[in-house]
Amino acid sequence: MTGSLSKPKGTLACLTEEHAEIDREVHRLEEALFKLRYEGKNSLGKNLKELHETLEFFETNLVSHMALEEDVLFPFFRRHVPKLESLILLLGSEHENLKKDLDRMKVFLADFSRRRTSPPGEALERLKEKGMYFVYLLRSHLHVEGESVYRAIEKELRRDEKKELVRRIELYAGQR
Ligand SMILES: [Fe+2]
Ligand SMILES: [Fe+2]
Repeated sequence: MTGSLSKPKGTLACLTEEHAEIDREVHRLEEALFKLRYEGKNSLGKNLKELHETLEFFETNLVSHMALEEDVLFPFFRRHVPKLESLILLLGSEHENLKKDLDRMKVFLADFSRRRTSPPGEALERLKEKGMYFVYLLRSHLHVEGESVYRAIEKELRRDEKKELVRRIELYAGQR
């Protein structure tokens, strides 16, 4: 996703668009978990594939989005908008939890796929539980981040600071 940062609409608008894209995928994951639980054996293969695809999306796009925030956005705001310091610490620890949850879901999915002949098994319950937790945590994370750090880009940064932030993001994206 950070590869799309050079679009003409602007670097900062692209970042917000990444949030919208992640949000759509959260919805897709929620639906996949629901279907996996209620649609039964006939749709099992299809639903497992759907779940697998959403996890792949998060592993690639969410992880790189969070890396950009951790490496560029968060340090920049800690320096330029010190009142956001403790919130940024919280957002950073949520990133760690999201990454851990993603790993756990992959393990549960592999576990469940191996024993797919006897759903709903214990692995399915664990997968669903961890998946729903991930959905809620990520939704809340996007919301809080949007209302704090992302809003502060418009409300708190001076024109030259904003320009400097854009320059750093583009430099970072170009190095990937
Ligand atoms: Fe984040
Ligand atoms: Fe974000």
